[in-house]
Amino acid sequence: MTENAKPRRITPRQITALKGGTPIVCLTAYSAPMARALDRHVDLLLVGDSLGMVLYGMETTLGVSLDMMINHTQAVMRGSKRACVIVDLPFGSFQESPEVAFRNVARVMAETGCSGVKIEGGVEMAPTVAFLVERGVPVQGHVGLKPQSVKAMGGFPVQGKEADAAKAIIADAEAIAAAGAFTLVIENTVEPLARAITARLAIPTIGIGASPACDGQILVTEDILGLSGSTPPRFVKRYAELGPILEAAVRAYADEVKTRRFPDREHCVGAPDAEWLRRTNLVSPRDRSAG
Ligand code: KIV
Repeated sequence: MTENAKPRRITPRQITALKGGTPIVCLTAYSAPMARALDRHVDLLLVGDSLGMVLYGMETTLGVSLDMMINHTQAVMRGSKRACVIVDLPFGSFQESPEVAFRNVARVMAETGCSGVKIEGGVEMAPTVAFLVERGVPVQGHVGLKPQSVKAMGGFPVQGKEADAAKAIIADAEAIAAAGAFTLVIENTVEPLARAITARLAIPTIGIGASPACDGQILVTEDILGLSGSTPPRFVKRYAELGPILEAAVRAYADEVKTRRFPDREHCVGAPDAEWLRRTNLVSPRDRSAG
């Protein structure tokens, strides 16, 4: 690679090869500035449909559209150079049939240049995952708590507590891996279950509220920065409390605007010289008498 060559993005295939090694670092990103800040530190950026709740204030992710996902992914792609960028397929864009899923995925990939897509679902989605993978689409699976099934689940409860439920999640994980997914997100499950799935699968598992035994971890970036506005789930660790810092900065700005301390000389552009003032005739009588 020459010095000026564009750095290549980490590929889904490279992510798969990280199975069992140094844990894979993943975070969500929805905007160019956030992607820029995260890019050097993560292997994978997920444009999660959680953006509906985090950015748009929705109560669930069900109202997120394909257009919203495309717009935010384009921003994340502009802000990042290195990370593998994966797009969450929103509710309604892939469940109907493998063909509809492919049509929507083709649009997402053509319009964003992303590295692949994520699909929520288990056994019932395996044929769709296989259909996409056979047509050249890297797919990340997502089992355990599936936020798009919030209405059926009656909230966001921990998954896999009962033996039958745990067995069903193992079956989901195995079906999605067998369908050719390159990684599998496991969300909000009891720890031994995620550990067992990680041991069984040949592809990396990415935990969110799952287990330190997973091959990688993902969290919602706004949650770890204290910017998501609501009380985060128990599995979130706060690495910063940026909410109060933001609040203090905005309070200081509002105060300075109201008291005319902002903008000051330093923040005014192109202080005019005497000739410019004479030619434009912009000197007010008050300025003249003061000068
Ligand atoms: O939508 C999202 O952000 C996600 C991750 C948290 C896994 O699905």
